Amino acid sequence: MDIDIQRGELADAKADALAVAVFQEEHGKHSGSLKAIDKALGGAIGRMREEGEVRGKPSELTLVHTLGKLSAPRVLLIGLGKREKVTAQIVRDAAAEAARRLRAVGAHRVAFAPLGAESGSLDVEASARAIAEGAVLGLYRFDRHKAKNGDDADRRIDRLSIYLKDGKDKGAAERGAQAGRILAEAANFARDLANEPANHLTPTDLAERARAMAKEHGMECRILEREEMQRLGMGSALSVAQGSVQPPKFIVIEYRGGKKNGPTLGLIGKGITFDTGGISIKPAAGMEEMKADMSGAAAVIAAMGAIARLKLKANVTALAPATENMPSGSATKPGDVVRAMNGKTIEVINTDAEGRLILADALCYANQLGLSPLIDVATLTGACVVALGSITTGAMTNDDALLRRVFDAGAVAGEKFWQLPMFDEYKEQLKSDVADMKNVGGREAGTITAAKFLENFVDGTPWVHLDMAGTDGSTRDRGVLVKGATGTPVRTLVNFAVDWAAENGR
Ligand code: BES
Ligand code: ZN
Ligand code: ZN
Repeated sequence: MDIDIQRGELADAKADALAVAVFQEEHGKHSGSLKAIDKALGGAIGRMREEGEVRGKPSELTLVHTLGKLSAPRVLLIGLGKREKVTAQIVRDAAAEAARRLRAVGAHRVAFAPLGAESGSLDVEASARAIAEGAVLGLYRFDRHKAKNGDDADRRIDRLSIYLKDGKDKGAAERGAQAGRILAEAANFARDLANEPANHLTPTDLAERARAMAKEHGMECRILEREEMQRLGMGSALSVAQGSVQPPKFIVIEYRGGKKNGPTLGLIGKGITFDTGGISIKPAAGMEEMKADMSGAAAVIAAMGAIARLKLKANVTALAPATENMPSGSATKPGDVVRAMNGKTIEVINTDAEGRLILADALCYANQLGLSPLIDVATLTGACVVALGSITTGAMTNDDALLRRVFDAGAVAGEKFWQLPMFDEYKEQLKSDVADMKNVGGREAGTITAAKFLENFVDGTPWVHLDMAGTDGSTRDRGVLVKGATGTPVRTLVNFAVDWAAENGR
């Protein structure tokens, strides 16, 4: 889809549909682009408002046919709620819903008003960014395994134009639209990886996809093979891989946009390409969802693509240990003791708590590489789904100031996070009779004890742990989310990297 900025009156746009904002609790007072449109339609929209058919609630959509009175055959009225309460998130969600609706009715070329900017809530750059980000996210489809001549195959929006009355903002709008597109395309790349069935995305496939992406954007990509992992002493990660016929791959992507000896931000993602639970096998119902147990890896890999496209003046390294977790004659057994790269030993009580076992070695390796600060992202615990549901990603840290900056980046992206405590008392649940620790801490506070486990391998480096077990997928289309993988928290990670680069990159 092309996105461009046009100068002129939206009412005159030659397109299959015009998209314009309406606000709540405002009767008869059309503003911005809507004034000329309603005039051409003989006041039809004004009447729909008076009769209460159009209320302007957030994401309310009303499609009006123009019957030859405008050069565009239809106008989509997009509710944005109360004028003074419009946010970038409201515009992103509305643009996503609107773009999906217009695609569904067969529009190929659409023309948007600068949603939220005509009401003065957002500047033109922020509006263009939110429209582009929302539309690209909202139009995402995962259809590569479907017949190419299916019902909707020819339903696609080829061009989205944003119409500005005032040409002086064109440059700012173009910058905004480009930034929005880069962020959304990165999230969509993560969605592509997470939606991919596990037979089409083995650790080897994931490594190849990461390598191709890195090459496309001029980044260094190294894949550590099993032998190299052995040499490094990654006994904890390798204990997860040993049950699978698929070889593990430890993916390393390096972006060097900052000073040679400057700090390097480390992004670490859990890359279990399928989690059966291993010998502690999961129940059959819903197990197919575990193809997305590499969503953390997908997020950090995809974030690197956006970081490179934005040409950040900072150094960032992504680490994504990738393996299957399978039961077999060679699989790890409950009670086995394994040794992580930093020498600490782990009693594997439950082989289904495998994410923390691969992250343990990844965190050690991050420290060996001197990365700081560290952010890890993982579909780590079912307990987090129970605690926070599918709306909010769990966040834990050893550095509250660092976490606040992640929260700020999340607020800009419209992705939600909530902190859980890291009191040392929780460590007691991980005590083992035979090793330095157990890999599970029992039923209570499962999300926190998983984080306390990881803390053993962080070695005091400033660190944030994000548990996205509940937020990796959506059960339906909702605003920027499309049923399936969400691409969370790619946009938060990129926003964080942008802010961090501004402070620490040079
Ligand atoms: N990948 C799962 C966590 C998960 C559960 C992600 C549901 C998404 C949805 C993880 O490897 C796991 O199985 N964790 C166990 C840990 C337990 C054995 C301590 C869990 O949460 O049940
Ligand atoms: Zn598991
Ligand atoms: Zn898992």
